[in-house]
Amino acid sequence: MSAIELQHVTKSWGSTVAVRDVSFLVEEGAFVVLLGPSGCGKSTTLRMVAGLEDTARGRILIGGEDMTHVAPAQRHVSMVFQSYALFPHLDVRQNILFGLNVRKVPTAEKEARLKRVAELVGLAPLLDRKPAQLSGGQRQRVALARAIVAENPICLMDEPLSNLDAKLRHEMRVEIRALQQRLAMTVVYVTHDQAEAMSMADRIILMRDGDIEQEGTPDELYSAPATMFTAGFIGTPPMNLLALADGPQGAVIAGGDGPAVLESGGNGLTLGIRPEHVIVAAEAEGGIPARLTASDYLGADTVVTARIGAQTINARVPGHYAVSPDHEVRLTWAASALHVFDSQTGRRVDGHRARQNSG
Ligand SMILES: Nc1ncnc2c1ncn2[C@@H]1O[C@H](COP(=O)(O)OP(=O)(O)OP(=O)(O)O)[C@@H](O)[C@H]1O
Ligand SMILES: [Mg+2]
Repeated sequence: MSAIELQHVTKSWGSTVAVRDVSFLVEEGAFVVLLGPSGCGKSTTLRMVAGLEDTARGRILIGGEDMTHVAPAQRHVSMVFQSYALFPHLDVRQNILFGLNVRKVPTAEKEARLKRVAELVGLAPLLDRKPAQLSGGQRQRVALARAIVAENPICLMDEPLSNLDAKLRHEMRVEIRALQQRLAMTVVYVTHDQAEAMSMADRIILMRDGDIEQEGTPDELYSAPATMFTAGFIGTPPMNLLALADGPQGAVIAGGDGPAVLESGGNGLTLGIRPEHVIVAAEAEGGIPARLTASDYLGADTVVTARIGAQTINARVPGHYAVSPDHEVRLTWAASALHVFDSQTGRRVDGHRARQNSG
């Protein structure tokens, strides 16, 4: 039995369709990320699961039971919000125990749960502090502790780390993931940050304009994006997408003067290649001629930007790569690194073979 199941769930506000006929399963104990750009319907979907928004059409099952029209408190799910929503006048202990107090859980049990959770998230020495006396990361942990102390098997999180700096965000990612595994919780986690999704998720549900664009493991979305949208959303920087054109010996990169990159096809197709799979070579070595335009040094590697005709392509190369603007290079890649999409529909097209001279 799945922990959560959405069947054809739809939600509109006036003429805006926020979530359109969305269906998915979340297995028990899984960490599932709802990913997508701002406004695509992630929070609305999560809030419908929690019961904080009513569901216009479709069904929501939790633990196999139809919960579509059941009040939030009866759904037995915890929720962590981006804003933490801590009570400023209550100390950490009272903030964590707030829900249990409301539900009149006996004192001895409350204290035992508090002790366990406080140790788990590293808040034991801070129980007497008010939220104002805590760092952002500590506040985040209070919000997390409050969700965990309820001992609901399902926890819903809406961008819980977006108020934190990069270093803390990274630490909290690891902590949340470890906690989820230790407690065998089912988590649905909303973010617009693909790196966060890639590093935390068992499965990613990528949304776009209220629809599910693609669902799969992080590796499936990375190595076989079903659409140009997915290709352009996953990866740092995302996949290069280059329009192709008919050439005498197969498909060439439109506007370039290089050799064919595919044995067949051309007009109407788009080539996808990840920056980390592009190899920058000297002019003598063969490949696709390109003109360097900029570089972005990141420490371990450098993102080099180049132009093929009027199209831009990024390459991620190891170490420090000093670019002299307008320098001519050749770009190559392994045949297996290429992806092909239909430019009109945006959908992946399999079956085109890469030309050997591009690898
Ligand atoms: N209470 C509301 N009233 C009217 N429209 C709303 C309301 N809440 C959300 N919407 C609209 O529904 C769509 C989906 O919003 P939602 O908050 O689910 O997006 P999101 O994916 O969580 O975005 P973000 O990453 O910015 O948080 C948007 O077009 C938004 O403007
Ligand atoms: Mg949101």
